[in-house]
Amino acid sequence: MKPKVLITRKLPEGIIKKISEVCTVELWDEEETPIPQEELAEKMINVDGVLCLLTENIDKKLIDGSPKLKVISNMAVGYNNIDIEAAKKKGIIVTNTPDVLTETTADLTFALLMATSRRLIEASTYLRNGDWKTWSPLQLAGQDIYNSTLGIIGMGRIGEAIAKRALGFNMNIVYYNRSRKLDMEQSLNVQYSELDDLLKESDFIVVMTPYTPQTTNLISEREFKLMKKSAILINTSRGGIVDEKALYDALVNKEIYAAGLDVFETEPINLNNRLLTLPNLVALPHIGSSSINTRYKMANLAAENLIAGVLGNRPKHVVS
Ligand code: GLV
Repeated sequence: MKPKVLITRKLPEGIIKKISEVCTVELWDEEETPIPQEELAEKMINVDGVLCLLTENIDKKLIDGSPKLKVISNMAVGYNNIDIEAAKKKGIIVTNTPDVLTETTADLTFALLMATSRRLIEASTYLRNGDWKTWSPLQLAGQDIYNSTLGIIGMGRIGEAIAKRALGFNMNIVYYNRSRKLDMEQSLNVQYSELDDLLKESDFIVVMTPYTPQTTNLISEREFKLMKKSAILINTSRGGIVDEKALYDALVNKEIYAAGLDVFETEPINLNNRLLTLPNLVALPHIGSSSINTRYKMANLAAENLIAGVLGNRPKHVVS
């Protein structure tokens, strides 16, 4: 008998076909709506594996209520939506999709950095609203990118890919990480810095750490006060790493110049969130890895991890 799996969102047909060749597939066939938690719990009772997205909250209750489950394959590099400890206790493998999204996410991070510093969204709106009456000296003037100092918090694969892009802009690069990356310090000419020093020195601060209890609200009131008034904060990691209330205050009180966010404490962001009233905030709907190629590769890798897990083989990317 084929193993049974649940796929929690519509994926490209070729990927579903590939999984169906070895598994009996149950699919939550909606593109725009996540599977409700109760329905997810009900369906997981009978499956050997689940391929899920970061929108699914795979908590202890769900894991404990899934007696046959062997593998949770997350179609994302981040896996803070899964209770890893609960899975470990039950011997359930958890997998993710690193590497394939590194360059695409670094591209988006850099795009957001550039859009925020050069006020691209504001400028485009200005034009479309008919406000462009003439050329004038300080019209929509922003911050320079070239020759500036970039502080990267979390120097993993994506952090490194961002640093490589920054070299092309002649940026001075500092980083903060749990462990030092001595090879990278040599090869990319990046300097290790304590977090507070990085916050004080950087013109651009890019948050790239995983979201864990230790990094929750890592950037809060105290940290904003350390930053330059001209600093720009970019977050393409997870919303909960930056305290949104403190960010709002810092932007309104001009403690920092601007911020670019691809991620939020609550996603989708509530349209009444005060952050969205600010002209010096560029907000994107969590599209860091969203190129057509990369999303296909992520789905494919998640499928391969799922198949290996339900067949009792070791998946390529096991996080625990
Ligand atoms: C997206 O945010 C991911 O973790 O892949």
